[in-house]
Amino acid sequence: MHVFVAGGAGYIGSVLVPMLLEHGHRVTVLDRLYFGGTLEGAEVRYGEKLRVVRGDVRSFDQGLLKSVDAVVDVSGISNDPSCELDPELTRSVNVGGARRLAVAAREHGVKRYVFSSSCSVYGHGEGLGLTETSARHPVSLYARAKAEVEDFLLDMGKASRGELTVTCLRMATLFGLSPRMRLDLAINVMAKNAYVSRRIMVDGGGRQWRPFVHVRDAARAFELMLTSDPAKLAGEVFNVGADSNNVQILNLAFRVRDAVPGTEVVHAPTDPDLRDYNVSFDKIGRVLGYETESSVDDGIREVLGALRDGVVDPDDRRWYTLRQYGFLRDAERAHRELAIDGKLLSPAS
Ligand SMILES: NC(=O)c1ccc[n+]([C@@H]2O[C@H](COP(=O)([O-])OP(=O)(O)OC[C@H]3O[C@@H](n4cnc5c(N)ncnc54)[C@H](O)[C@@H]3O)[C@@H](O)[C@H]2O)c1
Repeated sequence: MHVFVAGGAGYIGSVLVPMLLEHGHRVTVLDRLYFGGTLEGAEVRYGEKLRVVRGDVRSFDQGLLKSVDAVVDVSGISNDPSCELDPELTRSVNVGGARRLAVAAREHGVKRYVFSSSCSVYGHGEGLGLTETSARHPVSLYARAKAEVEDFLLDMGKASRGELTVTCLRMATLFGLSPRMRLDLAINVMAKNAYVSRRIMVDGGGRQWRPFVHVRDAARAFELMLTSDPAKLAGEVFNVGADSNNVQILNLAFRVRDAVPGTEVVHAPTDPDLRDYNVSFDKIGRVLGYETESSVDDGIREVLGALRDGVVDPDDRRWYTLRQYGFLRDAERAHRELAIDGKLLSPAS
């Protein structure tokens, strides 16, 4: 199968893409490569089976979708604070770009479409064990954009009368190692803070629930959407995670503290964290036989091990999504205001 992965060089993408190649798929990646060339190793290893295009979901050459069987959209600005940096930009990428990609896929006869949504659409959840039919209460721009794109895609799938199988995956918060590391996701950042400063900060009281899923398990879920019976996927939404990986934030902090002796847990004097959702993952198991492999404690051990072994540099700006987008914004502004003949520091020609 020829799979087009938008955002394929990101945290999920750079685990998913090698997995697809390993299993015999051909892959085209479209990504702005904001976090670096995380697929360079895979390009060397898989040669012509992998094509990485540096491009934008808002403007890419749609001819790239020729002969594509399935699109996986894991692109976009990927957390609440980065989305708040520039709401207009966020809407243009996360809503405008996502819609443009889907319309182009439909026009090019793509058969399957998988969108990376988020359990954050549940926002301030009512009760425990939220299912795919529970009310959505998104509390951030990021989550509202996800909800809007879900609706658009599901309508588009319906209107295609069986030609395009659309599936939305509501991912739990991810954890674990990836070539594009993220040290801003709850488990990863707590492990990093315990390792680096022996201090873990808990926001919003810590009683709020959050579901978690390992990045490899997340990638396996995307692959499952490419290989399962389309009749089970068309127009469906699946929560991706495991019931046992629903954890309250304070409990998570205590687990990380216990893994790094001498660590203290401190409460941040901030506003309450409005995001509070405990999610049921029954449907994806029942319908598709999906099960996760990694627990929260596996993830804590994995990230701590990588920090101890020097595999992950905790000071690399790119591993902090907000910092990297902030840097890119400042760089763009400096370029606009100061560049001569496109040059900032080199002599202008
Ligand atoms: N990581 C999580 O916990 C989590 C949870 C739920 C949902 N998601 C969603 O899954 C997707 C992937 O998340 P991630 O953690 O891999 O994020 P990420 O930031 O690592 O990856 C996103 C990728 O999209 C690319 N990108 C950004 N703007 C682009 C544009 N205009 N055109 C083309 N490419 C662009 C970036 O360069 C990056 O490689 C996102 O849509 C995110 O919202 C992530």
